[in-house]
Amino acid sequence: MIKKRKKIKLSREKINSYLKIVDKYNYNIKTNEDILIFDELISTNTQAKEILKKEINISKEKIKIIIAEKQKKGRGRRGNNWFSNNDKGLWVSFVFNLDLPREEIPQITIIGALAVQKTLGEYNINSKIKWPNDVLVNGKKIAGILTEMLIVEKSNIPAIIMGIGLNVNQNKFLENISQTATSIFNEKNIYLDKNEVFSFLFTNFIKLLHEYSSVNRKKLIEIWKKELNLIGKKVKLNHNKKEYKVLILDILNNGELLCKLKNGKTKTFPTFGTSLNFESIKKLN
Ligand code: BTN
Repeated sequence: MIKKRKKIKLSREKINSYLKIVDKYNYNIKTNEDILIFDELISTNTQAKEILKKEINISKEKIKIIIAEKQKKGRGRRGNNWFSNNDKGLWVSFVFNLDLPREEIPQITIIGALAVQKTLGEYNINSKIKWPNDVLVNGKKIAGILTEMLIVEKSNIPAIIMGIGLNVNQNKFLENISQTATSIFNEKNIYLDKNEVFSFLFTNFIKLLHEYSSVNRKKLIEIWKKELNLIGKKVKLNHNKKEYKVLILDILNNGELLCKLKNGKTKTFPTFGTSLNFESIKKLN
């Protein structure tokens, strides 16, 4: 925690001094080569794609991280903008390969949400994961995740780009999100060194990625499902501009919601193009 509100820039030296467990999980990370820090980018996810196109065949068990102080055009899910043209938040993309059957890949975003949740826990902040993978504190969004997959030429293994935006030191937000967004600063009145926050996030992420790629995948999916707390709930949802009142029967392993409709039929709703009306949960149950 920083006492004075002094700007501390992202730096490899600082990150190195915070990191403790880097090489432990076979992810063979060399902080100098594999953590790329930029003052300003269009978007860390976009930069990751550029790097993947040019440079890498990121080998199995390898990960690259791209962080920017500011993003000129941060991207959110469903084509939304993610306002990040400031150095108050942590804007980071993790790039890695996942040598798993294709149907096991979409769920990978849960490790981002769980890593954010654990990171917030380091500052005694309780958070909830909102389906599919927003992280909320006291009902307001503190972090969002944009996961993209790229098939790199000459490689059968898809590269995953997982972009995480975590609000850290913001004390105000744009008008249109001021009621729905929050930051660590707003919740705890503490001003943080983003190098430290990144180091927690990174460490948690690596641990979870290791678990996901190994035997514990099913366990993590169960933890995520429990955390979402949606099964058995009645809810209004919008899918492709149509509203449904449904009973949620299950969350499938690819993240889709299996629901019972009013007419008794079942239907699955994908994460893409579906949004839940969380207010309706209380009212309909
Ligand atoms: C969402 O909730 O809509 C997802 C937001 C994801 C934002 C992050 S910030 C780092 C990375 N780069 C981007 O352009 N987007 C993601």
